[in-house]
Amino acid sequence: MQFKTIIEPCRIKTVEPIRFTTREQRAAALSAADYNLFKLRAEDVLIDLLTDSGTGAMSAAQWAGMMQGDESYAGARSFFRFEASVRDITGYRHIIPTHQGRAAERILFSSACKTGQVVPNNTHFDTTRANLEAMGVLAVDLRCPEATQPSLVAPFKGNIDLAALERCLTENAGRVPFAMITVTNNSGGGQPVSLANLRAASALCRRHGVPLILDCCRFAENAWFIKQREPGQHDRTPLEIARDMFACADGCTMSAKKDGLVNIGGFLALNDDALAAACRNNLVLTEGFPTYGGLAGYDLEALAVGLREVLDEDYLRYRIRSVEYLGEKLTAAGVPIMQPTGGHAIYLDAKALLPHIPPSEFPAWALSCALYLEGGVRSVEIGSVMFGRQPDGSEKPAAMELVRLAFPRRVYTQSHVDYLLEVLLHVHSLRHRLRGVRIVEAPPLLRHFTAKLAPAHGALLV
Ligand code: F0G
Repeated sequence: MQFKTIIEPCRIKTVEPIRFTTREQRAAALSAADYNLFKLRAEDVLIDLLTDSGTGAMSAAQWAGMMQGDESYAGARSFFRFEASVRDITGYRHIIPTHQGRAAERILFSSACKTGQVVPNNTHFDTTRANLEAMGVLAVDLRCPEATQPSLVAPFKGNIDLAALERCLTENAGRVPFAMITVTNNSGGGQPVSLANLRAASALCRRHGVPLILDCCRFAENAWFIKQREPGQHDRTPLEIARDMFACADGCTMSAKKDGLVNIGGFLALNDDALAAACRNNLVLTEGFPTYGGLAGYDLEALAVGLREVLDEDYLRYRIRSVEYLGEKLTAAGVPIMQPTGGHAIYLDAKALLPHIPPSEFPAWALSCALYLEGGVRSVEIGSVMFGRQPDGSEKPAAMELVRLAFPRRVYTQSHVDYLLEVLLHVHSLRHRLRGVRIVEAPPLLRHFTAKLAPAHGALLV
């Protein structure tokens, strides 16, 4: 008998209360936060889907591991446990801990890149792009053609465009210090990259003498999608598949706040001896000695355990299936979302959902405010507030108006997902009454974090 009910593959041993608020309280909180969900107090949020980064719950084994943290400045036992865990999965020679993903990026880029160079990726994450651009390096996105059609169902919409990669490597010969592939592709909707695409990109890069680096924050989720969707992979374990993914590349940058199942941490791993030596020298300047890299010994212990737990099939099946379940119900109810559902998030297509709100009145932002007001759910806009301001100060609508609901790992249960579904359907039913927002005040850079907004027509709902 195959039972259908989705159950959490764990029991709960420690609980953290969440605070229920009334709609009136949320209306006051939203107004006090200038209609910017980043400025809410987390206590005023019932279900917090702002990010899946650093927000996961640790296991009993991880907490137990932390008690064995060795806090020695150099050569700590915890470092060697961490190193063994990362090497077992990635196979890379040099494993360098960092406090989070962007630190690994900065250290790699400042050691390997020069002004005027070009780094291709399926899609650069914000911090990856910003760290490259800060060095005067051109960050190019080469997503596959399917990636830009939100309603199209395709198995590997995270793939890099191989023909475009070939062109990029040929046209910029001698100017590409390395290529990157992000698994899963966060900015592209949490969509996976196939093993076939990774292998082809790897062969291409090797032919051009260019190393390939994985941005591997969500490598386990990517491995699970390969197992489910790629011909010939179904009977293999996520660990075997992950090893094959890493074997396609020459190194990786990792934000362990995602598939490391920890609240803080990251690493850089490389095969190249000279580059690793340069990175370690760079690491000492800002992160710390190479055997702790800005982390406590207990953080390294938690990470060593988390990297093994994240490849557990019961965990991955539960995680991916509960996101997919929500996606299926929304799709059946006619709520437009990015298809198919990705690993860590659901993306609502606000342009399709709110065609009466023009981009200049930020439909995705208004929708995320309404989800909070009606149900206490916090999400994040990925649309024209985040991307609309051009370097010259002018406004240009973003290509897509999305609301991301990102799921922390092992934190919310199936009944939270069912509640969320109810809230989403309720807000969908109010969509004709929803109105846009306007920016009252905003800083020139990264304005979404601190901008003040207000309803453009007196109220969010009329
Ligand atoms: N690369 C990807 C693909 C990411 O999603 C992130 C973080 C980073 C790098 C940077 O890692 O935060 O540890 O410095 N993404 C988070 C998010 C912030 O909400 O998607 P970090």
